[in-house]
Amino acid sequence: MQELQSEFTFKRGLRLKNRLVIAPMTTKMSYFDGVVTGDELAYYGLRSGEAGAFITAAANVHESGKGWEGELGVYDDRFIPGLAKLAATIKQNHTKAILQIFHAGRMTSSSVLNGQQPVAPSAVAAEREDAQTPRELTEEEILALLESYKQATERAIKAGFDGVELHGANTYLIQQFFSPHSNRRTDRWGGSLENRFRFINELVDGVTDVVDRSGVKDFIVGYRFSPEEYEKPGIRFEDTLYLVDQLANKPLDYLHMSINDYNKVSASADYSEKSMLAYVKETLQERLPLIGVGDVRTGADAQNILEHADLAAVGRAVLIDPHWVQKVLDHKEQLIRTELSHYDREELLISNGVWGFLEGMMPERLK
Ligand SMILES: Cc1cc2nc3c(=O)[nH]c(=O)nc-3n(C[C@H](O)[C@H](O)[C@H](O)COP(=O)(O)O)c2cc1C
Repeated sequence: MQELQSEFTFKRGLRLKNRLVIAPMTTKMSYFDGVVTGDELAYYGLRSGEAGAFITAAANVHESGKGWEGELGVYDDRFIPGLAKLAATIKQNHTKAILQIFHAGRMTSSSVLNGQQPVAPSAVAAEREDAQTPRELTEEEILALLESYKQATERAIKAGFDGVELHGANTYLIQQFFSPHSNRRTDRWGGSLENRFRFINELVDGVTDVVDRSGVKDFIVGYRFSPEEYEKPGIRFEDTLYLVDQLANKPLDYLHMSINDYNKVSASADYSEKSMLAYVKETLQERLPLIGVGDVRTGADAQNILEHADLAAVGRAVLIDPHWVQKVLDHKEQLIRTELSHYDREELLISNGVWGFLEGMMPERLK
């Protein structure tokens, strides 16, 4: 097993100085139109320079894909100057900057979309309170969305990022194409598992092609996915292993499994012998590197992830202590801040929206 302190080199040549990655976390700090704010730059600057790589908050590739207020935008060239500042802010002390690109699909509302109805593979509402029924995308719109991910990748290259991560997780548009709950289409984009994989297949081919044609050096493409859904019908872990197997043969640089506990075992009885991370790693058979994540609080947690993954991502711990990574790398864990109090709020540069979200997620830590 590799040490957290050891270097890691991706297929496309990008080298990380260590194996800790900051997980993508929405800041809810961008301007109403998706432009990076000064506060947001300060938030990233406070936390960067220690980890091998820093994955940004999700940035929407198309106006119809905005999921919430304060979200980063990458759907137009006018975002490039702000994104360039963001990339430069992250890239201090050799930390690599990865832009996460996404479209919310049905996981948004007309109030966020200036009155427009959300769009998705099919006109099926998500199973959550107040979910709106989206409009089914036309064939032409699907092709345009695939283009918008490619254009977002070109903008990330121009802005000086070291890579993009395709956000195929957390129930957003890419996952909605793969899920039999949100995708009820009867054309070539839906129905069988192979058809539900088609959007992802074309997306990955398109984006990696843009990178390889651009001639830019050391720019990587990663893919994030969630392992299972609870809806009926929904993505089961077996479907995910199919997805992983397909993606493993693509010119990607890594896969990243989004999960809230790295030890989590599948809900499917057929895969109950080990963690989902272990099954995914086994399926990959070293074809692609894997990033693990989920409730890492200590260096030992991160090191445990490396039993079944190549890199360990950490999210909330870095919100609470911006210097968590360096303290872990330096074996100074006794100095890590583990509790959050309202007195720390200004120092930590956490927006109201995220603070409220954290309160809901871990009230016991917010005294
Ligand atoms: C405030 C917050 C915002 C998040 N935003 C994103 C996001 O934009 N994209 C994404 O893929 N995951 C997002 N996540 C999920 C994290 O990347 C991560 O998978 C999750 O927090 C589990 O890791 P942790 O236990 O280390 O926090 C977010 C999590 C938090 C707490």
